[in-house]
Amino acid sequence: MTTERPKLSVIGTGYLGATHAVCMVELGYEVIGLDVDEEKIGRLTKGEVPFFEPGLPELLTKHVTSGKLRFTTSYEEVAEFADVHFVCVGTPQKKGEYSADLRYVESAFTSLAPHLTRKVLVVGKSTVPAGTAAHMEKLMRSLTPCKDVELAWNPEFLREGFAVKDTLHPDRLVFGVHSDWAEQQLRAAFAPIVDAGTPVIVTDFATAELVKVAANSFLATKISFINAMAEVCETTGADVTALAEAIGHDERIGHKFLRAGLGFGGGCLPKDIRAFIARAGELGVDQAVSFLREVDEINLRRRARTVELGLDLIDGSYRGTRIAVLGAAFKPNSDDIRDSPALDVAASIGRRGGDVVIFDPQAIENARRVHPELIYVESLDEALAGADVTMLLTEWDEFRGMDPSVVGQQVAQRNIVDGRNVLDPVQWRKAGWRYRALGRP
Ligand code: UDX
Repeated sequence: MTTERPKLSVIGTGYLGATHAVCMVELGYEVIGLDVDEEKIGRLTKGEVPFFEPGLPELLTKHVTSGKLRFTTSYEEVAEFADVHFVCVGTPQKKGEYSADLRYVESAFTSLAPHLTRKVLVVGKSTVPAGTAAHMEKLMRSLTPCKDVELAWNPEFLREGFAVKDTLHPDRLVFGVHSDWAEQQLRAAFAPIVDAGTPVIVTDFATAELVKVAANSFLATKISFINAMAEVCETTGADVTALAEAIGHDERIGHKFLRAGLGFGGGCLPKDIRAFIARAGELGVDQAVSFLREVDEINLRRRARTVELGLDLIDGSYRGTRIAVLGAAFKPNSDDIRDSPALDVAASIGRRGGDVVIFDPQAIENARRVHPELIYVESLDEALAGADVTMLLTEWDEFRGMDPSVVGQQVAQRNIVDGRNVLDPVQWRKAGWRYRALGRP
């Protein structure tokens, strides 16, 4: 059992950082969070979470009040306070390229380093291309007054919507380190999780970096695999949901991440596989991951196919039709619209002349900012009113639970595209609907 509790800092209070900071306080640590965005820091200090994540607002309020969690924009203050620093800044896809934009990671390390006057551990948590940690270590050492400062890499695997649970009870911890001292610091920084028996994999920097991209590549591949089967099902008259259920009973395959439909989106899977393709190219091992291009393409084809399914229901043109789009977030229980398949489909129908009316329980505000040309409404009822085609594109519970007879009274025409394979076709057809889905007759 470890008893020493290091003081922690979290640099970057976006999705990952804010969750990490709050959860580490919940685990008993004192934490300071830093961001360069003053507005974000202002909101967090008031106990406001700047994004939707179930369970997080309650914990933030609890800990801001307790005084164990505070926020700042000062690197000096952070360096003074903490023994272990977690760098949690974003690594978005570069515009017009596949590779990851590392400017925020570089900026975090270069801003922190000059203030480090005693031996501390700086831990990268951001998802980065292999080789970044080694580069950051050199960069940091060239800028710190204290040359004993060490670096470690500790990838994060949290899912949006389950971020609190995934952070407090992770499946595993991965510590990429260069020394026993760094490992001990990390064990102390995660003591309650380590003591709960969570597997800890101690490894080198490159492996730690790769674990994260490998995990996300595997998940993306699994989804695209079943979506490729959906394409085959569409031409053979087979049903991909029954197929997935049948193969998933084989424990070696399993049912998870085998839900065929509109495919993956979000701030991680799409950009991580593309960054991996780009990095593999730089390293001269592009062949090893060339299948990921196909994974990406299968995923994008599902969006185009969904647009076509809607067209089938209205005689070949969206012009002059009213299309109810249910869902804008990339998945339910999230307000994140980054690379959202739902919003992509909605925008594509809008470009083809359809009057797209979108409802999402959480993501409307974010969606409106990116696609102001589409129409947004505040309730499911408003979206359905007078619709020629209803498209379920993000599987919120509110949409899954729709009663086809009730909904049938609201729309102009009983046409539905089930983009997530969550409705019962028998029930919907019985209620007089023309039902279309991906990979299902
Ligand atoms: C993902 C990884 O799961 C997480 O470990 C990593 O840290 C970040 O990326 P997240 O982006 O929150 O997490 O979403 P996830 O729950 O993995 O779903 C990703 C996408 O795949 C969503 O768009 C979802 O709708 C889609 N999906 C998921 C499917 O289409 N089918 C499935 O069977 C599962």
